[in-house]
Amino acid sequence: MNYQACRTMLLSNIKGALCLSLIILNLCFLAEAAIAQQGPGQSRRATVNRGRSVRPGKTPWWQSAVFYEIYPRSFKDSNGDGIGDLNGITSKLDYLAGLGIDAIWITPVYPSPQVDFGYDVSDYENIDPQFGTLADFDRLVREAHKRRIKIIIDYVLNHTSDQHPFFKSSRSSRDSPYRDWYIWRDPKDGGPPNNWSSSFGPRAWTLDEKTGQYYYHRFYSEQPDLNWHNPAVEKRMFQTVRFWLDRGADGFRLDAVNYLFEDPSFRDNPVGAELRPGSTTEHVQELKYNRDLPELHDVMIRLRSFTDRYDPNRVLIGEAYVPEWDKLMSYYGPNNNELQLPFNFFLVMGKVRTSLDASAFRSVINDSEKALAGRWTTYVLSNHDIPRAYDRYGDGQHNEEIAKLLATMLLTLRGSPFLYYGEEIGMVTTEPRTIEEVQDPVGKRYWPANKGRDGERTPMQWDGGPQAGFTTGLPWLRIPPSAAQTNVAKQAGEASSILNFYRRLITLRRRSPALLAGDYASIGNDPHIFVYRRRGPSQTMLIALNMSNESRSLQLDKSILNQSTPSRVVFSNRPASEGQEVKESLRLAPFEALIVEARTK
Ligand code: GLC
Repeated sequence: MNYQACRTMLLSNIKGALCLSLIILNLCFLAEAAIAQQGPGQSRRATVNRGRSVRPGKTPWWQSAVFYEIYPRSFKDSNGDGIGDLNGITSKLDYLAGLGIDAIWITPVYPSPQVDFGYDVSDYENIDPQFGTLADFDRLVREAHKRRIKIIIDYVLNHTSDQHPFFKSSRSSRDSPYRDWYIWRDPKDGGPPNNWSSSFGPRAWTLDEKTGQYYYHRFYSEQPDLNWHNPAVEKRMFQTVRFWLDRGADGFRLDAVNYLFEDPSFRDNPVGAELRPGSTTEHVQELKYNRDLPELHDVMIRLRSFTDRYDPNRVLIGEAYVPEWDKLMSYYGPNNNELQLPFNFFLVMGKVRTSLDASAFRSVINDSEKALAGRWTTYVLSNHDIPRAYDRYGDGQHNEEIAKLLATMLLTLRGSPFLYYGEEIGMVTTEPRTIEEVQDPVGKRYWPANKGRDGERTPMQWDGGPQAGFTTGLPWLRIPPSAAQTNVAKQAGEASSILNFYRRLITLRRRSPALLAGDYASIGNDPHIFVYRRRGPSQTMLIALNMSNESRSLQLDKSILNQSTPSRVVFSNRPASEGQEVKESLRLAPFEALIVEARTK
């Protein structure tokens, strides 16, 4: 089974271990990679990088940062065309600064036919007119930097649009100088070269009638894969990295990096018995020969070397849905010389993806810490490909407490949290009602078994007005009915809102050396309360998350807090608990999240 299948199961609330094994079987969706700029000969000599990321002794900015993902189409429309844009983002920087955000990741805004809403790029060094201009981008960077907010851009290395001039030339003739920039193969037995399927639908191969060969595309047929075996591809893609570094980008989120290379002999992938939801003929595959190939690590080492030499403060974040811990660790590189932040998606896989289960969370986080062995990680609960956490975990009765509990976890684990726009007000996944409403092509293809990703991409809910304050025009996706009740303007005025909870929590995190950089230890084995400690030299924070619908007590061993002054509850999603002195036990209300502080100096 694949990403889509798991997603469908998730939405129909089928739980856990099954989903994990299915994800492991295929995880057909993802990842990506890197870039840099020197010529290949030069870059090979530069392979060794000792993992230097900042001046010795100084914590890199991205370790203490709170990241915020913006899906630009849906964030804020400044010109009334119903599509969000760069000027819209700039107009909301004060809001983001007020929330306490340190960096924003903007999904692709390059010129694009928008088949995959920007992940099909037709020009890597410009801005799509529907999002603005390069001057708007420069202004966004300037204004963000004034507010100490960093800008991370999305870089799509694995594939281009079929409308990119390189591909247009590549497909024009077998003799095109760009022919070898993509992956072309002769037909086999009158059909495609092998059995590989695409993430988005049946075949990963499309026949070009004119030249009589098939081209490979891991995603839509409008997204042909680049041939990274060709050194000219790397050279050109690295040049683009420099282009954006020069424009002030503080880092890159590398799309689908684990798909950069394919097996040179194009062997068939093993096929499972299971069918893709919505299809009666397509079987799920194990992506043995077209995902996570070792060659991609050399590219990443060269890319990191390139960005580090440009400026060691720029960060590389990689999207690779990797089902095994050791594989994920390989993206840091043998000497921490690949990505600084490979995305850790283990909170959105397996049992913890859908069920609020303290033992399961404890076990995932402990496994994460063990695998990391001191490296820095990311934590994420939702993004533009994953249904929103609010309704994944909400029980219909305590959704607000649960959303606050999840926020407490995300912002107090040892790692950089990535929030997804709207998460801070508890936006819900709002799927299309009819196939006519669907925008995401994958939803059109597999409707209704898979309704696509529109549900998590709906416009940001700024106020309770007719178009939720997102646009004055007709929004590209329907405004969720929940906008009347759930919106920024309303929550800004309510002391106990989810929005103000995030604000206070981010402020607390910012001021807490233990939460920013302390070590992590899991405490006890309570089946309902996930308890852990973050400890720095001068401060200890104990976090207790009651993941059950009942009041619970927790006995504390004195040595856990190791306090020299009385410990107190400094933060909770039940304000009445705050200020309470903590001795040897804690009492938690249903779904209560508590942070207890002990000062050791
Ligand atoms: C990544 C993006 C996803 C996109 C795919 C193909 O997984 O997150 O939205 O469809 O790559 O580029």
